[in-house]
Amino acid sequence: MKRLIGTVMVVLLAGAGISLAADAKAGQAAYDKSCKSCHGANGTPNAVIGKMMKVEMRALGSAEVQALSNADLKKVITDGKGKMKASAGVTGAAADDVVAHVRTMKK
Ligand code: HEC
Repeated sequence: MKRLIGTVMVVLLAGAGISLAADAKAGQAAYDKSCKSCHGANGTPNAVIGKMMKVEMRALGSAEVQALSNADLKKVITDGKGKMKASAGVTGAAADDVVAHVRTMKK
């Protein structure tokens, strides 16, 4: 039953022109807009931000960050983590897209 509902949802969303699969390309656009200023174009942190916030920022492509699950990465974006505030404009599918983009930064 759950599966049937899922299938119906996919068909409905596809009909509306919305894709359920995370889209790294769309994620890059959202990343550039909402994350790049602090995390750099390719995940290498902006040193000025780390200094200003007095925190050691890890590169998003680092093994430590890449070891986080997709759900954990999404949670950082939607809920914040430590000194990082939640990214207000990036929620739901857009957050999944950003996670997919962050995966492309893996070293
Ligand atoms: C205003 C600056 C700023 C913005 C904008 C920002 N971040 Fe962060 N982010 C930080 C800081 C600072 C930390 C480290 C927080 C800490 O360790 O206390 C961090 C931590 C993270 C972490 C956890 C890394 C780890 O070592 O566990 C991830 C993942 C992350 N950010 C992804 C993103 C994504 C994706 C976006 C955009 C949707 C984003 N951030 C937007 C400043 C920012």
